[in-house]
Amino acid sequence: DDQLALPVGTTLDRFIMRKQEEFPYATGELSQLLRDIALAAKIVNREINRAGLLGITGNYGQQNVQGEEQQKLDVIANIRFIRALRNGGEVCTIISEEDDHVIQTGNTEGKYIVAMDPLDGSSNIDVNVAIGTIFSVYRRTSDASGDGTLEDCLQSGARQVAAGYIIYGSSTMLVYTTGCGVNGFTYEPSLGEFFLSHPMIMTPSEGKIYSCNEGNLNSFPEGIKAYLDYCKEQNYTSRYIGSLVGDFHRNLLKGGVYIYPATAKAPNGKLRLVYECNALAMIIEQAGGMATDGTERILTKTPTELHQRSPLVIGSPEMVEKVHTFLAEKV
Ligand code: AHG
Ligand code: MN
Ligand code: MN
Ligand code: MN
Repeated sequence: DDQLALPVGTTLDRFIMRKQEEFPYATGELSQLLRDIALAAKIVNREINRAGLLGITGNYGQQNVQGEEQQKLDVIANIRFIRALRNGGEVCTIISEEDDHVIQTGNTEGKYIVAMDPLDGSSNIDVNVAIGTIFSVYRRTSDASGDGTLEDCLQSGARQVAAGYIIYGSSTMLVYTTGCGVNGFTYEPSLGEFFLSHPMIMTPSEGKIYSCNEGNLNSFPEGIKAYLDYCKEQNYTSRYIGSLVGDFHRNLLKGGVYIYPATAKAPNGKLRLVYECNALAMIIEQAGGMATDGTERILTKTPTELHQRSPLVIGSPEMVEKVHTFLAEKV
């Protein structure tokens, strides 16, 4: 009926505006930046939805700095987000999983740095499984004008002023935090708007879902192996799709733990501290959860390289703590 047809929440634009009014000295630049990201998300969402028809699935034919085969949509999403942030004017420097070096936007007055994984879950593009975009926003620490510096880009995750992700799933959602809780917005494609659908998300303190690539089990640390045995004794549910955003989003809402430990193939883990771990760590902490590398809190790690990797244990606080006890027992 009519009631079901009407979007229930406020629009993202209105929400951002209202938030800005709560901070009398805010200049509106971060608000504008978030709107730029939402615009790029809509464009990328459209390309993803039609990818099979436009012939933009599959390999691009080049490797990125991570040593991965780039997919066409990795490249397209990267271009779209860079363009939106450059046109928006608030960002002086962008760093991306898909680019070896920092990208100077030419907006030398821009106050912000953005780190992003433009397309997360590349291996799922061609098979119609949820994929995502992850972003972190930092305030520049260098002089107020000119290009951003490498130091600006290598700030610890604790210094993020905003972080979020877009999930292109059975519906498209944008979930973000500016440090005052986590809010989720669902995209209404016929109206072209994101609507608040998940206000003030809190993750359950305990959960029953564990997510990891158990194909790598033989080279997992002993403590992780022991924890996985424990999960089975407890009859927990195993869920892993191989899109970090998708696996994270499910566990955030339902309660669970996601683990990407060090493996033989990836001795520091596979996930990128700056483009993947930091943003999700800020979100999960804002939602009452935890994110560590097995010992240290993700947000207090200071990156020394743009493309640095880190093991990741993230999710419901009691589950992350449990992983820690197993890791401490078996070294
Ligand atoms: P990306 O597609 O941005 O390169 O990220 C891939 C990441 C992440 O999304 C996912 O959780 C993980 O790689 C999957 O790795 P495995 O295939 O080794 O499980
Ligand atoms: Mn990749
Ligand atoms: Mn990724
Ligand atoms: Mn990616």
